[in-house]
Amino acid sequence: MAKDLFRLDGKTALVTGSSRGIGLALAKGLAQYGADVAISSRHEEELAQAKKEIETETGRKVWTFVVDMLETAKLDSFFQKVVETTGGVDILLNNAGINAQHPAEEFPYEVWQNIIGTNLNAVFVLSQAFCRHRKQVGKGGKIVNTGSLMSHMTRPKNPPYAASKGGILMLTKALGAEWAKYGITVNAIGPGFLKTKMTRHVSSDETFNKWMLARTPMNRWGEPEELVGAAVFLSSDASSFVTGQIVYVDGGILALL
Ligand SMILES: NC(=O)c1ccc[n+]([C@@H]2O[C@H](COP(=O)([O-])OP(=O)(O)OC[C@H]3O[C@@H](n4cnc5c(N)ncnc54)[C@H](OP(=O)(O)O)[C@@H]3O)[C@@H](O)[C@H]2O)c1
Repeated sequence: MAKDLFRLDGKTALVTGSSRGIGLALAKGLAQYGADVAISSRHEEELAQAKKEIETETGRKVWTFVVDMLETAKLDSFFQKVVETTGGVDILLNNAGINAQHPAEEFPYEVWQNIIGTNLNAVFVLSQAFCRHRKQVGKGGKIVNTGSLMSHMTRPKNPPYAASKGGILMLTKALGAEWAKYGITVNAIGPGFLKTKMTRHVSSDETFNKWMLARTPMNRWGEPEELVGAAVFLSSDASSFVTGQIVYVDGGILALL
């Protein structure tokens, strides 16, 4: 029988920011395709609920880890703890992210630092730890980052978010090119507008909805579950010759001028 290129049986994935929203949908999606998953965020209670949900729906093993992506100096030991607990990490899905909007000229520097720290710095440090681990294992690996439409275009009042997600695009290319020699592929997903806690303030805004729907050829919001196909593709053997790419899942927004 032909090998199923998309199966993830025998693999373990670490998905950051997976207590809710996109991260939870992706952790569940990878588990549905056979992976055991380590999930993480800053809040134990939400994680416990997410673990229960994934275990019930998929029957896969789920481990929870409380970690703050802003504590960059602790991320290497966090990653080592995940490796020790799970027995090894084959797939790193960097998903934890935040946003805040202010006019650029008044954007508080502390908030800028938090957004860049969570969305970009933590991704780099965790990717380094993952690479060192996979070099020791000697069997390659898969990194999937979470970009955005703002990896490519921007909107007013979002300078650090746009800078962080533009950074994700270039970091994905840089690491993809450099770590191909280790058999590690590095790719990203670029979600369009999806209804989650992060977008609650705009999904309930009539003016925004009107603009966004007119701007989206598919004329609707996306669901976090609609990213699972791209995540499974980029985490599995199906993408064995793909690296340094971002796959946009956006209802066609970037196709429309
Ligand atoms: N929703 C969209 O339309 C959209 C579009 C494009 C890209 N994205 C990207 O998709 C990713 C997920 O977004 P989402 O919409 O699912 O947002 P969300 O519902 O707010 O979920 C964010 C997740 O990240 C965790 N997190 C945030 N800050 C953290 C920190 N400092 N340390 C550890 N964990 C942290 C959150 O848990 P705690 O707060 O409990 O720590 C939560 O699990 C982000 O990278 C976002 O930029 C979203």
